[in-house]
Amino acid sequence: MPEVDVCPLADFPSGTVRIVEVSPSLSVGVYNCAGEFFAIEDQCTHDEGPLCEGEFDCAERVAICPRHGARFDITTGRALTLPAYIDVDTFPARVRDDGMVVVDA
Ligand code: FES
Repeated sequence: MPEVDVCPLADFPSGTVRIVEVSPSLSVGVYNCAGEFFAIEDQCTHDEGPLCEGEFDCAERVAICPRHGARFDITTGRALTLPAYIDVDTFPARVRDDGMVVVDA
């Protein structure tokens, strides 16, 4: 998987998400939860809703699809509530030595 720049850590406060277009067919939402980084596919498995544009709870590690409200575990991609029942993909994310947050996607 190629390493993709997300943004500098200095511009990425805890408790926020950044959405990066990795390819024409794949966008990824990267979450900073108190310095731990998690990345999931920005497309709900229920009806292709823009999952990472919805609300999320860093303490619970949950993202909520803005279209119909399905909840996903952002650490595993697991679909936690209906109407989604298929997990989303996850990707490794981290801070590189030069301070850039990157995701392997
Ligand atoms: S598209 Fe996400 S819950 Fe329906």
